[in-house]
Amino acid sequence: MNITQTNKFANNQKEPTAKTGISILQLIFFQRKYILISLGFMIISVLLNLTSPLFMKQMIDTAIPEKNWSLLVGLIIGLISIPIFVTLFTFLGDKYNHRIGAYVTDQLRKKMFYKLTHFSPKTYNHLKSGDIAGRMYSCGEVGDLYITQFVVPGILHGLMFIGITGIMIYLNWKLTIISLVILPIMFFLSKKPAMSIRNISQNVMQLQQELSSYTTELVQGLKTVQTLNQVQKENDYQYKWIDNYRIERTKAFIVGSFSELLNKGQQALGIGVLFGYGSYEIFQGNLSIGSLVAFVAYFSQLFGSLEKAQFGLVKGIELKPKLEMIKEILDVNDEQDFETTSPTPLKIKGEIKFQNVSFAYDGDRGQVNNINLHIKPGHLIGIVGPSGGGKSTILDLLLGFYTPDSGSIFLDQYNLKEIPLKELRSKMTLVSQDVFLWNKSIKDNLQYANPDASIQDLEKACYEAQILDFIQQLPQGWDTVVGERGVKISGGEKQRLAIARALLRNPQIILMDEPTSALDSKTEAHLQEHLERIFKGKTVIIVAHRLATIRNADSILVIKDGEVAEVGTHEELLERKGIYDQLYREQFQAN
Ligand SMILES: Nc1ncnc2c1ncn2[C@@H]1O[C@H](COP(=O)(O)OP(=O)(O)OP(=O)(O)O)[C@@H](O)[C@H]1O
Ligand SMILES: [Mg+2]
Repeated sequence: MNITQTNKFANNQKEPTAKTGISILQLIFFQRKYILISLGFMIISVLLNLTSPLFMKQMIDTAIPEKNWSLLVGLIIGLISIPIFVTLFTFLGDKYNHRIGAYVTDQLRKKMFYKLTHFSPKTYNHLKSGDIAGRMYSCGEVGDLYITQFVVPGILHGLMFIGITGIMIYLNWKLTIISLVILPIMFFLSKKPAMSIRNISQNVMQLQQELSSYTTELVQGLKTVQTLNQVQKENDYQYKWIDNYRIERTKAFIVGSFSELLNKGQQALGIGVLFGYGSYEIFQGNLSIGSLVAFVAYFSQLFGSLEKAQFGLVKGIELKPKLEMIKEILDVNDEQDFETTSPTPLKIKGEIKFQNVSFAYDGDRGQVNNINLHIKPGHLIGIVGPSGGGKSTILDLLLGFYTPDSGSIFLDQYNLKEIPLKELRSKMTLVSQDVFLWNKSIKDNLQYANPDASIQDLEKACYEAQILDFIQQLPQGWDTVVGERGVKISGGEKQRLAIARALLRNPQIILMDEPTSALDSKTEAHLQEHLERIFKGKTVIIVAHRLATIRNADSILVIKDGEVAEVGTHEELLERKGIYDQLYREQFQAN
């Protein structure tokens, strides 16, 4: 055999796709054109902003003393129009920033969803659904915030700082030195509140995360909670959460306000010092009044820039835990390849072989040991055995959800690990032990397996699965919505819908994990008659606790403690007087 797996993931695209791992900085880099445009607008607005104090200086030092009306009018028009143009250019710059931010956000979201849907069970078994939902929603906007509140203020106010300092030196270098001594002290003083904000914001994030995963779990388990009389306990937990959350939010508010107060105080103090020393310089004849006014205006701008840069820094610090949560998902390297297909579609007869297959979930927990099986194409195989023995695990191995730690599985002549997953899954269908249905209509749930299925196809499959009568007598018929995970229909109805869904796919191999455990014996017997007819020629594996379900199987495997304990037909196994015989007697007596 020769199935070459072409790796379509090779990262040679220019633009990132959802598949490629990539950092935020790289994402920003892909938007360099817009960054340059936005930077251009920002530089224009910075330069304009820098001119207004010079206009003031000119007015105080020249136009007013000389009573030069035309100059005065010109300067006043300038002072009026500068802020308007500054706002206009800032708006244009911002427009592009948001565009870049939205792009980064979209890419991060796409990547998160891509990763999530491609994780193998090894990874997603450990995930908490609410936790993931929380990350998707609240962390989604991170890209936008990162650009507009961290990167851009950083660049913009960095530029402002350089420009303003240059002009200040030109106006009076001594005053500039005083300003540059005052500023780092101020910066240092406000560092501590910034660090506290970071810790608090981390706590707030954690609390939000906790609530979101807790609520998802609670909704799923509400019935159990009520049955076990634990409502009070859950309420206590929720009230405690609400209190904690309020405390953290209050802390954040207080620290934020305190930090603002500190800033304003520092600025006022700084201006006071400048006016004091500046006046001295004027008395000495080293400085004009206009220059001092302009200087103080620049100092305010400088301080404003620093404040905004610091605000950006705090935002960046606040965003860090969110970014890390995204990274935690993006950095997991456990993607399954669902895209690759073999060059020529595989044709299989449906023969299955397990050769010395061993597998364990965690260390030595949940093992199957040295499984050897040979299932002929078109055979119906029953698997029975005590709970926890490894029956579902064998089906999961066959479906490629897990790979054997040792040994090999073959589908016809192909080693399973060489068959692309997409192709493998197209050859099999599974009716699993816990049926999953979307909170959608019956029709949507059935067509999910085969979007091309016509209503006649649905009717046929549902008839064979013994569920058509039920659907037809529902007031909304096919459009009946089944509730989350199918809570609005019974366990047996869910199972029969799952069987109908599997029949709509009609592959060569059919796996069923206790598909009829919730049915009464009469319905099960009816269903079996139909299925035996439909399944003719297909390889079918049915896991069952009720032995009547698999009595007519071509061969029955008894799985115990992760090993094949017995193999044979119903009659052969009874004759052996082993585990199967014992199970049979127990059930026979119970009935
Ligand atoms: N995701 C998992 N991680 C760790 N251990 C697991 C996991 N799934 C199952 N196990 C363990 O593996 C063993 C086999 O489980 P499996 O589900 O295959 O049993 P089973 O024969 O299908 O049982 P049942 O008849 O109850 O469905 C059990 O001991 C189980 O606790
Ligand atoms: Mg099972």
